[in-house]
Amino acid sequence: MPDENRTFQRAGMTIRVFSDAGAASRAAADLIAEAIRGAKPDRRAVLGLATGSTPQKVYAHLAAWHAAGELSFRDVVTYNLDEYYPIQPLDPKSYRCYMHRHLFSLVDLSPQAAHILDGTVPEPFVADHCAEFERWIAADGGLDVQLLGIGRNGHIGFNEPSELPVEEALALPTRLVELHPVTRADAVREFGGADKVIPRALTMGVKTILSAGSILMLATGAHKADAVAAALNGDPRSGLPASLLQTAGGKVTWLVDELAASLIS
Ligand code: F6R
Repeated sequence: MPDENRTFQRAGMTIRVFSDAGAASRAAADLIAEAIRGAKPDRRAVLGLATGSTPQKVYAHLAAWHAAGELSFRDVVTYNLDEYYPIQPLDPKSYRCYMHRHLFSLVDLSPQAAHILDGTVPEPFVADHCAEFERWIAADGGLDVQLLGIGRNGHIGFNEPSELPVEEALALPTRLVELHPVTRADAVREFGGADKVIPRALTMGVKTILSAGSILMLATGAHKADAVAAALNGDPRSGLPASLLQTAGGKVTWLVDELAASLIS
């Protein structure tokens, strides 16, 4: 049982605070494994997955349980939140490559069951591709569980801060977006230079994310404390996309470490 310090409710959401990133990640992995094992016999578990530095320990747990013969991905289908655009799948910086490194190559997930938005689709076909991605999710019965991280600017997936009315922000579909300056700055490390960061991406929409059966937001580290506090305080607003999770209330669980929780009032 991960080292859990406290649990409370905020805007209908459950906030679980752990001693450190390792414990929060372990709790996320436990919940994902539960979703896999709990899938009905006639239906595959449908997982929404995230990339970035935060979920790496989650995938390490899932891979270790698979290696130990305790968890199988045979009856799992996955959909990733986002992908840079344009990018080749074999580019080591692509999220497809990331997922192979951290999970897909380490478990028995069928390649046909691993869906990632395609960074090679020619631009005139992008809207169709995004609509098709949403149709595939619907045809699989919808996302059972969506794992999220939070950007320092409060983004979820690559749904960046905007000035849209809340109703419009909540209805955002899967689409091509421009990355926010904070997101681009945070990607400099990954890309090895500000001029090398790919400034656009394909992202699952807010609407699709919020339609998941359950949503796990994993946030760890002091650099996430401002965004976490801002998302939990105040009303849902498009200027801070993670605050829109408040509208999904009871199905949202925040798994945060003490550092990320330090500014919640
Ligand atoms: C990644 C994604 C992003 C990240 C967020 C946090 O697929 O959708 O929203 O979750 O940028 O990234 P890290 O974990 O690197 O701090």
